Amino acid sequence: METEQSLPRDVGGAAGRPFPRSFVQELRRRVDIVDLIGAVVALRPAGREFVGLCPFHEERTPSFHVSRDKQVFHCHGCHAGGDVVTFVMRRQALGFAEAVVALAVQVGMTLPDPRPLSAEQRRRLGLQEELYAVCAAAADYFKDSLLQAQGSDAIAYLRRRGVDGPTAERFGLGFAPADWEGLGRALATKFPPERLLQAGLRRERGPGRGAYDYFRGRLMFPIWDERGRVVAFGGRALAATDGPKYLNSPETPIFRKRQTLYALHLARPAIERAGRVVVVEGYMDALTCHQFRFDHAVALLGTALSDAQAGMLMRCAELIVLAFDADLAGGVATERGLAVLQERGAQVAVAPMPAGADPDEALRAEDGPRVFGAALDAAVPLIHYLVRRAIGEANVARMAPEQRWRLAEQMVPFLARVPSVMGRGTRQEYIEHVARALGFREPYDLARAVERHAEKGGGHRNRNTWNPTPVGEGFGRSAVRPAWDAAEETILAVCLRSGEWLRQLLPELSIHDFRGASHKALVARLLQGGVPVTDGGAAGGAEAPGSALLNEEEDPQIRSTIARLLALELPEATAAVLRQCLATMRRARLQEDAGTLRAEQRRLAAEGLDRSAEMLAVTRRLFELTTELARSVRGGGDEHRPPGGG
Ligand code: UTP
Ligand code: MN
Repeated sequence: METEQSLPRDVGGAAGRPFPRSFVQELRRRVDIVDLIGAVVALRPAGREFVGLCPFHEERTPSFHVSRDKQVFHCHGCHAGGDVVTFVMRRQALGFAEAVVALAVQVGMTLPDPRPLSAEQRRRLGLQEELYAVCAAAADYFKDSLLQAQGSDAIAYLRRRGVDGPTAERFGLGFAPADWEGLGRALATKFPPERLLQAGLRRERGPGRGAYDYFRGRLMFPIWDERGRVVAFGGRALAATDGPKYLNSPETPIFRKRQTLYALHLARPAIERAGRVVVVEGYMDALTCHQFRFDHAVALLGTALSDAQAGMLMRCAELIVLAFDADLAGGVATERGLAVLQERGAQVAVAPMPAGADPDEALRAEDGPRVFGAALDAAVPLIHYLVRRAIGEANVARMAPEQRWRLAEQMVPFLARVPSVMGRGTRQEYIEHVARALGFREPYDLARAVERHAEKGGGHRNRNTWNPTPVGEGFGRSAVRPAWDAAEETILAVCLRSGEWLRQLLPELSIHDFRGASHKALVARLLQGGVPVTDGGAAGGAEAPGSALLNEEEDPQIRSTIARLLALELPEATAAVLRQCLATMRRARLQEDAGTLRAEQRRLAAEGLDRSAEMLAVTRRLFELTTELARSVRGGGDEHRPPGGG
C-alpha cells in the first residue's frame, strides 16, 4: 500500500476528536483489512483468517493474523493489533487523524469539514513552508561547501573519525565555511534576509547593524523532522579550541528540539523491521550506528528525553533500548521522559556501553560491532539494570542485611516514580524484583519505604494512569497464563462483541477487579461511557461495541487491546460461563488482598504491635476476606448477580 507522503500537518487540528464517528465508521467499512494489509504483507488463508509474517517484528514463522470477518489484525508474537486505522498508524508512524486522512485519500473519500484556515493560520503555514525551503537550500549550500577546497579540513576530520562516503551522504553532512557572509550571500537572491534569521541560520548584530552567519567553520549535521524535511542544523567544531563542541539551531517555527529525534526518518524502516528502536545521545553516535548497520538508531538532541520524544518512540516501536554511556543510563532513569514511557507501558531496556564509551567509540573499538550488537541483544529492563549496577561485583549472598538494605534504599526514589495503581501494577512488580535480587524474603519493608518516599512528594502519586504490559523478567511473555487472566479476557471480549452483554456487565465492572494493566485501561475506557451498549436498534448501529470503539479511540494501547480481544476465540458466552469468570477474578483479588493483609500482620507483629487497634482491624479484615474466599471456593460467590437472563 502506498499512501500519500505529503499529508497536511496537524490534520484535524488540535480538537482531539476531529472526525465525526460516522465518517471513520464509513471509512472502515470501505477499506477491507485483508486487501489493505495483503498489499504489503504476503497473507495466506488459514481457516477463517489469513496469516503472514508480522511486519512489526522480525519473525520466521507467521504469527500475524488478519480477520476479514472482524476487520482486525493481531500478532501473537509482538502483540501488535488493531484495525485498518491502527495498521496505517503503526506502519507509517502516523497519528490517528493522519492515518484516517491517509486512508480516506486512498479510497477517495472526501474529508469532512475542511475547516477554513484563519488568516493567522494561513500566514503561519506559509511561513513554515518558506522556512523548510530555506533549510533545504542551506543544507545544499553546506554540502557543496564540503566538496570545495574550503571543505578539505572537514573532509580530513571525517576521515579521521572513520565516517565513510555513503554514510556522510546519507546523513547529508556539510561544511559551513569560516565566513561571516557565506550562507548569507549564497541565499541572498532566493529569500528575504528576514527568513534566514527566522530559520536560525543568521543572527542580528543589533538594531540596524546587520546580520551574520550563525554557523562558521563547522561540520554540519542537518536535522530532519519526522518526515525527513530539514528543519535545523547541528554544527560541530573541527578543533577542541573552536568554541562550543556543538552549536545547534535555535527553536524556530519549524524546529522544536524536544519534539525531534535525530535520524528518525532514516531509521524508521529498520525500526519497524526490528520492532525496536535504539536511542543514543549524540549525532555522531546515531551516524556511526547506521554506518555499522545498526540503522534502527535515533539520537536525542542534547536534552533529556522529553514527553514528546517518549510519545514518538512509543508510536514507532514496542521496545525502546537506551544505548547510553554507562553512567548516563543510571542518571536518566529518574527523568520525566522515562517515567512517561513507563506509565504508558513501553518496554524500556538498557544496553550499557563499555565504561566511558559512547556508541560511536564502542563501535569503532576492536571487534566493536559484534560487542555492540551483543550489548543490544543483552539489554535488560531498566530496573534490572539499576539493581545490577548498584550491586556491582559484590556477592549478595555474602552481604550483611544492612548492606543489602542500603542498596535497596538506593532504588527507592526510582521505584517511587513508577506509578502505583491501587497498590498493584508495575511498581509492585519492580519492588518485588528488587527485593528478590537483593535476597529479601519479603518485599514489604521496601514497599513501605517506597510508599513513604512517594508520600513525601518524591514520586508519582494520584495519577490517573497505570502500566499496561509490565516489564517482567526479560521480555518474554510468561507461558503460563493464570486463570484470572483468561477470565478477564473472556469478560472483556464478550463486552466488546455484544452491546447487550456490555449493558448488563457494565455495572459489574470495576477497574479494581482487573489485574491486567491493559485490561484496566480498557475497563476505564468502557466505564467512561460513550460506547454503544445495544446492538442494532432504530439507529441502525449494528456495530459491536468493540468495533464502534475503534472508530474513535486514539490510544494505541487500548486499540491493540481491543483488537486482541476481538480476535480471541471464545467459548459461547453463557451467563454461567461469565459468572464463573467473575468469580475467578474476584477470588484472585481476594487472595491477593489477603496476602497483603498477612504481610501487614507480620510487620505489626515484628514492631511489637500485636495488641494494637491496627492489628485488630487488620485481623478482622483478614477474617472477613478468608470467609468470603472460602465461600467463593465452595462455588458460592453468588453475590455477583449473573448478568442477563441469557
Ligand atoms: P557528546 O558530547 O556526547 O558529543 O554530546 P558526541 O555526540 O559524542 O559527539 P562527538 O563524538 O564528540 O563528536 C551529545 C550530544 O549533545 C549535544 C549534541 O546533540 C551532541 O550530539 N551537544 C553536546 C550540544 O548540543 N552541544 C555541545 O556542546 C555538546
Ligand atoms: Mn562521541
